[in-house]
Amino acid sequence: MRTPVIAGNWKMNKTPAEAVELARAVLAEIQPFTTVERVLCPPFVALAGLAPVLAGSGVGLGAQNLHWEKSGAFTGEISAPMLAGLCQYVIIGHSERRQFFGETDASVNKKVQAALAHGLTPIVCVGENLAENEAGQTGAVVTRQVRGAYAGLAAEAALKTIIAYEPVWAIGTGKAATPEQANAVMARFIRDLLQELYSAEVAGALRLQYGGSVTAANAAALMAQPDIDGALVGGASLKAADFAAIVKAAAG
Ligand code: PGA
Repeated sequence: MRTPVIAGNWKMNKTPAEAVELARAVLAEIQPFTTVERVLCPPFVALAGLAPVLAGSGVGLGAQNLHWEKSGAFTGEISAPMLAGLCQYVIIGHSERRQFFGETDASVNKKVQAALAHGLTPIVCVGENLAENEAGQTGAVVTRQVRGAYAGLAAEAALKTIIAYEPVWAIGTGKAATPEQANAVMARFIRDLLQELYSAEVAGALRLQYGGSVTAANAAALMAQPDIDGALVGGASLKAADFAAIVKAAAG
């Protein structure tokens, strides 16, 4: 049995003080759902403030990005060792980072390796954009992204990761993939590829999240799919009640 994992990606929202306020509100609502792995991913500057709020609560903390080098002349960047004492998860290769900040499959791979080397759980994002979807390239794109992200990673390392399948056309648009659509990509492209790259055991054990306009209303149907083990939630994670409803849906 794979433990469902729901992560809130707050993106570039909330000041440090607002983040603490939201975290307290979210925590009050999601704390009872202990069968679900729950993670909040605020902006970097809110991590230190949220760490004591979440400590001992059973709710994890994650960053939204990291640099692959440990330290050095990389103005504006944050490294894995800097995050390691502060949080437990890190989102890597989100489509907004790929689209607006030039992230590639190669940089995603380096970031995944850096995260794992410092004990952080990577939430590796993949997903096709609208043009690719309409051109029937979903499988090819997702396969390329997963191959790239996991290049050189041993099975033991791969097992410590989470994959978020987030079709770009569904992110922030209010147009989520249908549960069947999302499940088909996960089963046919992602789990099959993991089996090819590693083994049936790895393919069966890795948690796959769906992301893209997940709401309190559609979460239960998405979670009911056999290959969907959770969600990476953007907009709805900024509202405590909505995020809690999604966590509850994952608890079943
Ligand atoms: P959304 O974002 O839930 O607002 O669509 C999801 C994401 O980008 O992780």
